[in-house]
Amino acid sequence: MMNAQSKIFDVVILGAGGAGMMCAIEAGNRGRSVALIDHGKQVGSKILISGGGRCNFTNRNVSTKNYVSQNSHFAKSAFSRFPSDQFIRRIEDSGLPFEERKWGQLFFQRSARDFVEFFKNQCIEAGAEIFLQTEIIQVQRNSDQIFEVQTSNGNFYGQSLVVATGGLSLPKVGATGIGYKIAKYFNHSITETAPALDGFVLSEEDAHRYGGFAGISLDTKITCGDISFTEALLFTHAGLSGPVSLQASLHWHPQQPIEINLLYKMDLMEWFRAEKQKGNRKLLKNLLCEFIPARLAERFCELHDTPKLPLPELSDKSVTALFENIHRWKLVPKSTVGYSKAEVTRGGVDTNELSSKTMESKKVPGLYFIGEVVDVTGWLGGYNFQWAWSSGWASGQVV
Ligand code: FDA
Repeated sequence: MMNAQSKIFDVVILGAGGAGMMCAIEAGNRGRSVALIDHGKQVGSKILISGGGRCNFTNRNVSTKNYVSQNSHFAKSAFSRFPSDQFIRRIEDSGLPFEERKWGQLFFQRSARDFVEFFKNQCIEAGAEIFLQTEIIQVQRNSDQIFEVQTSNGNFYGQSLVVATGGLSLPKVGATGIGYKIAKYFNHSITETAPALDGFVLSEEDAHRYGGFAGISLDTKITCGDISFTEALLFTHAGLSGPVSLQASLHWHPQQPIEINLLYKMDLMEWFRAEKQKGNRKLLKNLLCEFIPARLAERFCELHDTPKLPLPELSDKSVTALFENIHRWKLVPKSTVGYSKAEVTRGGVDTNELSSKTMESKKVPGLYFIGEVVDVTGWLGGYNFQWAWSSGWASGQVV
């Protein structure tokens, strides 16, 4: 393992995830001496586990609309200077095969390990020195304006300091709150942080009422506040997962209701009237099973005491509440699942105190925050990595 031996680098980058590595490549290629520090055994630990091992590395359609931040325009500059097209071109040039899936999501066709290897080699070729298994302990700025980083592997000194230590999600893969601590030490504000892209835990009452659905998956629409997503919903023992729940959890705040449309592709009342006219004499529950999984159909009919009569003998009134519940099933989740499962941390270093062009602190010259540690959180779909690339690139041009 290398030792810093009190060497002064032009740039010390804390965290060798996507953002830190992108910054190291760009700064190194500009001839800057770079130290890239991480306490993991390898670089890019989260890239390795992302996208089911295939890494959803970006999205064809990136705009600030796909992000949650207290300053919704902040990310615009970085995205226009280093858009997803430019990253895609780099991947094309590298020869790493990838594919486009729905909603413009791009995934590698080979293991994410190859991608991490490629990225690591780019850092090395750019002259960056990588220090792994190096725990960051404390950071300060000396009287001569040099940043000093105390680590388990000696002290590092840098003219510029880039904090790319990510958020709090998935501590078992190396997440710590060190980036927020460093920000606070330098008098930066942190917007409220919360686990996101993690799905929901149901209240005890709802878990009891709607128990027994674990394992069921179906396409649904979930609305949370003024935003809706349509995608697969997966019921788990604790609550709701699957892409649609993950998306909704990014926008959810405690005590807020969510609304689930279990059959968003059709209008049940219209269908019911048409079937009645046709003289369809089947039981409603059996017909519903053609559209939604049987366990759901049975339970919803049970909860509404739907009369067990052939369709023509059911009045519109007797099915209104049931259909309303299937189309607009309202729940107030107990919480989201938490940092142990969250793909990202919502919130972070307040963007009002950073330059949107370079990610430099407006309070401390030479200090930069990039990637997930910043209050810019993307939807599911490759948006979080694109933020890591774009913010890493923006800082890498100037550090
Ligand atoms: P990142 O967390 O990647 O890197 C921070 C680094 O800092 C880590 O390597 C960590 O070890 C290091 N560090 C932290 N504290 C330290 C300390 N005290 N000392 C030393 N080092 C320290 N996004 C996406 O766009 N597409 C996807 O497919 C997925 N999939 C996905 C799956 C799963 C399971 C998770 C958890 C997350 C995703 N994401 C995703 C989100 C994506 O992984 C995330 O947004 C980026 O990795 C953030 O990149 P950063 O470089 O900012 O932080």
